[in-house]
Amino acid sequence: MTDHVKVEVEAGVMTITLARPEKKNALSNAMYGVLADSLEAAEKDPAIRVVVFQADGDSFTAGNDLQDFAAQASGAFTGERHVGRFLKALAHATRPLVAAVQGQAVGVGTTMLLHCDLVYVSPDARLSTPFVNLALVPEAASSWLLPARVGHARAYAMFALGEAVDGATAVAWGLANGSAELGDLRTRARAAADQLAKRPLGALTITKRLMRDAEKIAELMDAEGALFGERLKTAEAREAFMAFMERRPPDFTKVG
Ligand code: COA
Repeated sequence: MTDHVKVEVEAGVMTITLARPEKKNALSNAMYGVLADSLEAAEKDPAIRVVVFQADGDSFTAGNDLQDFAAQASGAFTGERHVGRFLKALAHATRPLVAAVQGQAVGVGTTMLLHCDLVYVSPDARLSTPFVNLALVPEAASSWLLPARVGHARAYAMFALGEAVDGATAVAWGLANGSAELGDLRTRARAAADQLAKRPLGALTITKRLMRDAEKIAELMDAEGALFGERLKTAEAREAFMAFMERRPPDFTKVG
């Protein structure tokens, strides 16, 4: 368990709040566990009709905790990893998923949005998927979903160059539904969730199922996950994680 994720249910809406602002809401294994448990619980509870993701502090999330990645790369981490269960829960979610995104949304912070049905961003949002900078590869089925959403050229620049997308651009590219000032962001997302909670759940569920190929998404997550797991153990990736922790640029030339 962790208190870095808060979960509340009110009027048919489950609100999941990332609450580790001092680390830009970087997602630890324990946090993934709570995210996975919550989505799984929402699927089983007829009283929960919509799920909202939001985050405390100035950022949505800095993505996977890089200390955790480093521990996995060195073999120091041996417990059960929950990220895969979270991603699968996103793939198979039948409930509408809504997100309110401010500041940095790095890595899975952006790729999870590709599984959300309504996304609202603040103007200062910065969506990025710098997997290659970390010697990693796309995950969460983003190798298919991101180019399908924004086109190959933009997706490639996001993956391979780590280019970030601001709030206005995210809306223009169809990564988000709308933009709201930070003070209004949660209200905007919640209003959308409240509207969805009043819609007929059966029709919503079938509509979402028709719009997404959940099985294909889950299969791709497995394929990406295998490659991602291999990449984590490479010297390139270790150099990237050490560089972040030592607050210096990585030097990939020294690792071949
Ligand atoms: N994992 C672990 N800790 C992280 C983190 C991450 N992904 N992202 C940020 N943090 C920590 C920092 O180490 C720092 O901790 P400290 O105060 O104990 O030193 C704290 O959060 C604040 O981060 P900082 O880098 O000082 O904030 P910033 O505003 O200058 O930059 C980011 C914010 C998100 C741009 C920057 O932290 C970053 O690039 N993080 C890594 C993102 C990433 O590569 N994620 C993995 C994607 S697959």
